[in-house]
Amino acid sequence: MKITKAVFPAAGFGTRFLPATKAIPKEMLPVVDKPLIQYCVEEAKASGIEEIIIITGRGKNAIEDHFDTSFELESILKEKDKKEILRVVNKVSGLARYVYTRQKKNLGLGHAILCARDIVGKEPFAVFLGDDMIDSKVPVMKQMAGVFKRYPSSILAVERVPKNETHLYGVIKGKEVAPGIYRVVDLVEKPMKNPPSNLAIIGRYILTPGIFRAIEKTAPGRGGEIQLTDALRILLRTEEVYACEFEGDRYDAGSKLGFIKANVSMGLKRPDIREGLKRFIKGLGV
Ligand code: UTP
Repeated sequence: MKITKAVFPAAGFGTRFLPATKAIPKEMLPVVDKPLIQYCVEEAKASGIEEIIIITGRGKNAIEDHFDTSFELESILKEKDKKEILRVVNKVSGLARYVYTRQKKNLGLGHAILCARDIVGKEPFAVFLGDDMIDSKVPVMKQMAGVFKRYPSSILAVERVPKNETHLYGVIKGKEVAPGIYRVVDLVEKPMKNPPSNLAIIGRYILTPGIFRAIEKTAPGRGGEIQLTDALRILLRTEEVYACEFEGDRYDAGSKLGFIKANVSMGLKRPDIREGLKRFIKGLGV
């Protein structure tokens, strides 16, 4: 079965980026010249996703505007014969079919995903968290879709993190069934002590529709929010869940340091600014 729908939860307040995110959605912060969320939408598209379901909230209109056509802007660019920029602008709205729904209260990531239930229907779907920007040869969701073909069940993207950072992530306990692929035995959200491993869950998931029932049964957890990790734990009682280590460089662009690293690293890949940026970094002499 092909995964054609992806849910993008984007209703969070982005408190770690205040005051920048007071009036601008975190998802719209640019890495070089593209908003964070666009990198994920491009990854989705390159992985065969056709429908992008974005979970928004108050103050998130800029996301809808970004993926919409902009008649005024396009006609000005046409008039000025700015063909290349026009192509870049047009590409954004043509990437996929976009559907929006609102999460009325910030009740957590699990709850945000539940808001997409009627739109997703009864098929497995992908979830992208825009905070995790991943630079890879093969798009990560495509790598995961390959694992899904072999193990048609929920698949979590995982990455080995230093032991002293496991408290920042959902962490799995898994049994390796093939190189880099684990059958999940248990998972814990942000373990303060005794993490079951250093395999941290990253912001890419393939989920079966069974997750919706599991979320409904999930009581508010850490921070009073309905956590996806807790729902996955409930799902584990009735379905197998797998995790796969992906190939690629991940940036936690939801944190200040990760966001700056993403900008530097992606900037070094852009031919128009690469040399200037390299000179600047060398000149810092740090
Ligand atoms: P985060 O935990 O990173 O929260 O959410 P946040 O609000 O985005 O950022 P900080 O931590 O306050 O700086 C992980 C993902 O889940 C979405 C967020 O938009 C983000 O993509 N989310 C979170 C929702 O859509 N709704 C929620 O109620 C909570």
